[in-house]
Amino acid sequence: MRVLGIESSCDETAASIVDDGKVILSNIVSSQSALHAPYGGVIPELACRRHVEVIIPVINQALSVANTKLSDIDLIAAAKGPGLIGALLIGLNAAKALSFAMDIPFIGINHLEAHLYAAMMDHLDHIPFPALGLILSGGHTALVHIDNLGSYRVIGITVDDAIGEAFDKVASMLNLPYPGGRYIEELAKTGDPYKYSFSAGKCKRNPLNFSYSGLKTNVLYAVKGQNSHKNSPLIIDESEKQHIAASFQRAAFSDILNKTLTALDQHMYRSIILGGGVCCNQNLNAMFTEAITTLPIFWPKPNLSCDNAAMIAGLAYHKFRDSKKADSFDLKVMPRIPALI
Ligand code: KG4
Ligand code: ZN
Repeated sequence: MRVLGIESSCDETAASIVDDGKVILSNIVSSQSALHAPYGGVIPELACRRHVEVIIPVINQALSVANTKLSDIDLIAAAKGPGLIGALLIGLNAAKALSFAMDIPFIGINHLEAHLYAAMMDHLDHIPFPALGLILSGGHTALVHIDNLGSYRVIGITVDDAIGEAFDKVASMLNLPYPGGRYIEELAKTGDPYKYSFSAGKCKRNPLNFSYSGLKTNVLYAVKGQNSHKNSPLIIDESEKQHIAASFQRAAFSDILNKTLTALDQHMYRSIILGGGVCCNQNLNAMFTEAITTLPIFWPKPNLSCDNAAMIAGLAYHKFRDSKKADSFDLKVMPRIPALI
């Protein structure tokens, strides 16, 4: 089954052709990072306008790289949520329009489930379940109990900022480019991770929940002074930034690792599956690999970590094959999906 996947939930317009859930024939991503960089974050209205401009060229490029025609496509899938409402609408409506015009079945896909699927794609036949899932992206942070592909229970979420968002905001405080996760990683390589005693927040109601707003404020006060705000000038030297980056990264990832270890203590998980843009971070990979030696850890490949449409097309194959059902054109975008549905 040949699937066209479309992704437009935030600031990437992406299209991909995937055969049978795992053979990626093309994976085109048009990133809007440069457009939003001057603002230090995604401006929804600008994101929507750019999606409208590039969605058809991106789909055409995905078809052409895959050397395939729209009439060869068996299923069209698009991210239905969570994400920015206007941005999601553009991808979902493009998928519905193509589906209607070409009489090809259409299906909406949960973007977060697709992030987890990215790591499962090549290994589905030999992933031991139940697995502990970790979604670490710019918009979400979650621990997920996975009984099988399609069967999930969220056991921990962030109560404020997402992990990637915290990286981006700290990067912005240090005057690094947006999105700043990879610049923090780079800067942290030469820094002392214990120079500053930063730590992530604790969540009394659910110890598996995450909180990064206090950590962000810790960093703000260290770099701009007590009671400063985000536009205050830096009070640290340039040479200090590496230590701030390393100490922040250590605090953020120790928190994720500790919560992962707590979840592993609570249940007999047989593997770990990670997804989302923050999984590109090699320091995170090294910390997990060193601390967890008794379970297989499945990471998404670098080109499948950040937002992409191959994960949408790949997952759609399984959803459609298992349910034998297309979605109706009444399907609405779901900017905030409470669970992994
Ligand atoms: O999954 P993704 O593309 O988008 C969402 O669904 O939100 O993740 C983007 C996030 C951004 O916050 C970005 O700074 C972060 O992933 N990121 C990283 C790294 N590469 C990307 N964070 C830390 N270290 C990295 N190397
Ligand atoms: Zn994402």
